[in-house]
Amino acid sequence: MKIENDLLLRAARGEDIKRYPVWLMRQAGRILPEYRAVRGALSGFKELVETPERAAEVTIQPIDILGVDAAIIFSDILVVPEAMGLEYQLIEKKGPWFEKTIRSTDELIYANTNFDIEDRLGYVTEAIRIANKELNGRVPLIGFAGAPWTIFCYMTEGQGSKTFSESRKILYTNPTLAHELLDRITEVTIKYLKAQINAGAHMVQVFDSWAGILGERQYEEFGLKYMERIVNAINEVPITVFAKGAYASAHKIAALNCNTIGVDWNTDMRTFRDIVGENKTLQGNLDPCVLYSSHNEVEKMTNNMLNSFKSKRHIVNLGHGVYPDVDPEKVKTFINTVKNFKIK
Ligand code: CP3
Repeated sequence: MKIENDLLLRAARGEDIKRYPVWLMRQAGRILPEYRAVRGALSGFKELVETPERAAEVTIQPIDILGVDAAIIFSDILVVPEAMGLEYQLIEKKGPWFEKTIRSTDELIYANTNFDIEDRLGYVTEAIRIANKELNGRVPLIGFAGAPWTIFCYMTEGQGSKTFSESRKILYTNPTLAHELLDRITEVTIKYLKAQINAGAHMVQVFDSWAGILGERQYEEFGLKYMERIVNAINEVPITVFAKGAYASAHKIAALNCNTIGVDWNTDMRTFRDIVGENKTLQGNLDPCVLYSSHNEVEKMTNNMLNSFKSKRHIVNLGHGVYPDVDPEKVKTFINTVKNFKIK
């Protein structure tokens, strides 16, 4: 199907664009009362993720309500560890929680690779098919997965953490186990992303939310090595690597076979562009907290960021997911500022 507004894909491929495309990480979610209404009618987040019609419905809400240039399928990175054998819960105000963890070789029984993606994650591919039908080609649909390192963090720590010291401990005490688990996660993630693309995802993003807690050399060994396998395996659609906090590895990320690099708000786009060169599209990177300021200030800070771009190869986004208590009207100001900006 032809996509009416294909700015996102054009920007990802480095083609000419008449204005910068814009979308937000976590655009489908608690910022929208319409999302809360859909979720509130179900038992909770997991039921929403696992009910394709409802997941497709909240996927499309930001297109209709906010006017973004892309949809991202409503799901979570934690569906992958669950499909492999570690069930998760999402505890209100606490975040993800896993009953079991993998910290020893024996516990690798909870990290299966030998299963059919459609069998265990068919609710995601079905949501993609329904969302595309309802989008009817208005904007592209982004698929996603967690990066092996970030999924490893949740499978070993069993919950969110500021330091993920249980996860990092394994890198020193049992690197063989770490590599075995990362290898398994990578294998499943490649199959999962391909299933999303088969179902109709027009672009995919790999979220390495915890890249920034590793030293540079460790990130190369336990993070980038597996990220590289993923980007090399996915050639069907453009792919974005978002390695949050991995500024020290920017030059190595730039050498990966990906179209787009996600940039968090710690780095200026100019500084980042100087490191990665002209051959990648950059995505980001307004500080999500800017959206707590006045409409005027949101407009000013957004324009400052846009004016700092040295190239057309940009997709505008925040530097991380939008915070749930942000006023959707501020989000609209951000989006409209980008849409009204004339590329020089
Ligand atoms: O709009 C979108 O971006 C698509 C949906 C999406 C969700 N999670 C929905 C969600 C995406 C892309 C994710 C990715 C994700 N999930 C990441 C990587 C991106 C990042 O934020 O760094 C991570 C680390 C997770 C794991 C996860 N899921 C956490 C830590 C939490 C709890 C924190 C929170 O925001 O409550 C979740 C739950 C979650 N995933 C929610 C949403 C909308 C909130 C659930 C709710 O209460 O409705």
